[in-house]
Amino acid sequence: MKIALLPGDGIGPEIMADAKKVLDALRLPNVTYWEADVGGIGYRRHGHPLPPETLEMAKAADAVLFGAVGDPTCDGLERHLRPEQAILGLRQALGLFANLRPATMFPGLEDLSALRPEVARAIDLLIVRELNGDVYFGEKAIRTLDDGRRQGFDFMSYAEDEVRRIAHVGFKAAQGRRRRLCSVDKANVLETSQLWRDVVIEVSAEYPDVELSHMYVDNAAMQLVRNPGQFDVVVTGNLFGDILSDQASMCVGSIGLLASASLGEQQTAFGTKGLYEPIHGSAPDIAGQGTANPMATILSAAMMLRHSFGREQEAARIEAAVARALADGVKGADLGGSAGTREIGDAVVARL
Ligand code: NAI
Ligand code: MG
Repeated sequence: MKIALLPGDGIGPEIMADAKKVLDALRLPNVTYWEADVGGIGYRRHGHPLPPETLEMAKAADAVLFGAVGDPTCDGLERHLRPEQAILGLRQALGLFANLRPATMFPGLEDLSALRPEVARAIDLLIVRELNGDVYFGEKAIRTLDDGRRQGFDFMSYAEDEVRRIAHVGFKAAQGRRRRLCSVDKANVLETSQLWRDVVIEVSAEYPDVELSHMYVDNAAMQLVRNPGQFDVVVTGNLFGDILSDQASMCVGSIGLLASASLGEQQTAFGTKGLYEPIHGSAPDIAGQGTANPMATILSAAMMLRHSFGREQEAARIEAAVARALADGVKGADLGGSAGTREIGDAVVARL
C-alpha cells in the first residue's frame, strides 16, 4: 500500500505528523509512505504549488493524505500559482469526481453545534457531492445584450453518465451505513435535476437493499436544521452539495473535526483511489504554535483506510478512539479545550 503524504502549508505539517503517528500505531503490513511538497511550500521550493514530482507521486500512490494549503505570502501571485490551485490540479489529474463529507455528532460536543443540543445529538450523515460537473463547469460569461444591459450566465448541465457514476458512489456508501440514500435536487424547476432524478431511480434498481428517497434542495436545507437525524447518505450535485456540506459541517460544531474524501473511478489493488483531507484550511493564524487540532486529519486517515484500502476495522478503531478521547475531555482550543496537537495525537493513539 503506497500512501502519499502531502502536508502542505501552515498547520499542515503539524496535523499530518499526528495523523501519521496514528497510522503507525496500527502497524499495518506493507505500507510505504511517501512525502512531497504542495501548496505555498511547493511554490517556494519548486516554483509551482503542484510540482511535477508531487503530481507524479500522487499518481503512483494508492491514496493521498493531504494536509492543507494556503499561504498569505502567496496572495499577490497569479491565480495559477496560488497554493489553492494544487488541490484543483490534483482533483483533475486523479479524476476525483466524488466528494464525501461525513458529519457526525460526537457525544459531549452537542453544545458546540449551531443547533439545539437535542437536535444535534442525532446527526450521523454523509454528504456525497459530485465535483466535476454542474454550473461551475458549463459555458459562462458576462455579455452585453443588444439593449446595452450586461448579463451574466452560467450553463448548468449534467450528462447521464456523470449522474450515474456519482449515484453508484452514493448507493455503495449507503450500503456500508444505514442503507438509506436521499437524492437532493430541484426537479420541480430544473431540467438538469429531472434528468438527475431519472438516472438515480434507474441506478437504484441495482441496489434493492438501499431505501431511496428524493428531496428538493430548499427542503433539504430546512430539514438539515430541523431534523438532521433523518439523513443517512445524501447524494447531490456540485452546487447544492457545496452549500449543503458547509451547512452540515456547522451543525456538528468544530472545523477541527471534519474529514473528507475525494474519490474517482480508478481502482487499485486495494480499493478505490482517493484523496483525503480535513475540510479546514492551513490556519495561518495558529500555525507553528502546536495548538491545531489534528482530529480532522486523523479522521481523514480513517476514511482512507476504509475507502482506499478496504480496512473497515482499522477505520472504525480510529473513529472510536477519537470519540473516546473527546468523551474523556481531550479537546483542542477549537473546542474550547487546552489540549495541544501532540497531546491530542497521543490521546488518540492511547485509545486505539
Ligand atoms: P481555515 O480553515 O484555515 O481557518 C479558519 C479558522 O479555523 C481559523 O481561525 C483557524 O485557526 C481555525 N482552524 C482551522 N483548522 C483548525 C484546526 N485543525 N484546529 C484548530 N483551529 C483550526 O480557513 P481560512 O482562515 O479561511 O483560510 C486560511 C488559508 O487556508 C487560506 O489560504 C485558504 O485559502 C486556505 N484553505 C485551504 C483549504 C484546503 O487546503 N483544502 C480549505 C480552506 C481554506
Ligand atoms: Mg464550500
